[in-house]
Amino acid sequence: MKCLAVLALLLASSAALAEHSAPPAPPAPPAPAAPCDPAACQLPLCRCSGTDIPGRLAPRDTPQFVVVAFEDSVHEENMATFRRVLYGRRNANQCAAAATFFVSHRDTNYALVNELYNRGHEVALHSISHMNPSTYWRDATYDVIKQEFADQRVQMSHFANIPYDSITGMRLPFLQLSGDNSYRVMADHGLVYDSSWATAAYSAPALWPYTLDYRSTQDCLAPPCPTASVPGVWVQPVTPWLDLAGNPCSLVHECYNSPDRFNETEWFHFFLTNFERHYFGNRAPFGVFLLEATLYPYPAVQRALQRFLDVLNNLQDVFMVTGEEVIEWVKSPVPVNQYRTQPCRQYIPTTCVRAQCELTSEYDGREYEFESCNVCPRVYPWLGNPLGQ
Ligand SMILES: *[C@@H]1O[C@H](CO)[C@@H](O)[C@H](O)[C@H]1NC(C)=O
Repeated sequence: MKCLAVLALLLASSAALAEHSAPPAPPAPPAPAAPCDPAACQLPLCRCSGTDIPGRLAPRDTPQFVVVAFEDSVHEENMATFRRVLYGRRNANQCAAAATFFVSHRDTNYALVNELYNRGHEVALHSISHMNPSTYWRDATYDVIKQEFADQRVQMSHFANIPYDSITGMRLPFLQLSGDNSYRVMADHGLVYDSSWATAAYSAPALWPYTLDYRSTQDCLAPPCPTASVPGVWVQPVTPWLDLAGNPCSLVHECYNSPDRFNETEWFHFFLTNFERHYFGNRAPFGVFLLEATLYPYPAVQRALQRFLDVLNNLQDVFMVTGEEVIEWVKSPVPVNQYRTQPCRQYIPTTCVRAQCELTSEYDGREYEFESCNVCPRVYPWLGNPLGQ
């Protein structure tokens, strides 16, 4: 009965709608991407989603890349951990080992971002506001994403005094996707890769990075996932770790059944076991996605991580590199023997003339302290005014 009543109401209201003039049609959503055609989608510009190794290499000929990434703001407190855990590392090919930082603007000290860059680490984007809750990102329009990320790239380059072109990657807060919007903003503003799209289905074998020219076969954990064709934009999938009970977790701190945080041995084995799923599998890049807060309160976890990285840095076919370097390799894959003998990555060193700024926010009226490698702006930089002019 209830169903019938609802149906009657629906019919009545659609009849009523038809009688009035139709409202202006919203812009048509872009057509869904076509299934991937491997013949048309070829490296270096295009790659279908999949677990196949780029260049059809055998696993033993494939460099095992490890991407250690931290996210959120960079400030004096967490910088001490970054220096202790990361600085001075070399891969077995004698090139500097590097990490990726997905930096959010709020509370970030840009003199320290400059230091990370000049130590060879990758500076990538994690939004200006890092707004809570995650529904903000789920519902974000193209314009909001543009203000949060395209504007942040300009902002980061300006205040950290690092080259605009060195900033090519991004990650959405909470790994919460916003449909096509974030990928379309990337394409329109020259960003190369995104590392936000988590998968649970592809833990082993894992997905290699791919482009969005064609329809992705990846499962969607934090919808809406993109459906349109966005040519040339790279997805670096967030491959799950498995916790001690075998449950997938995207970020290390999300692993529910994780080892005792006071037991270094157990954590060392936890790092190693998750790594081995990649290393003894299809060698898809292994992500170690951390928050500094996972390490600082737990010296045992921190020591376990250092021991784990020491092991990696001594393996001849393992390379701790940035997310950007992984994409570069995927575009033009070469066997590990050749990769090992290539010259090390170069970057343009920059300097930071530190400015201590105390600024008021026109957004929330609060006072912010802010360290910059450029002259202090007029107000605290924020959405819509990324340079604080
Ligand atoms: C850490 O865990 C291992 C293996 O479970 C155990 O043998 C060892 O006693 C633990 N160490 C400490 C300090 O609790």
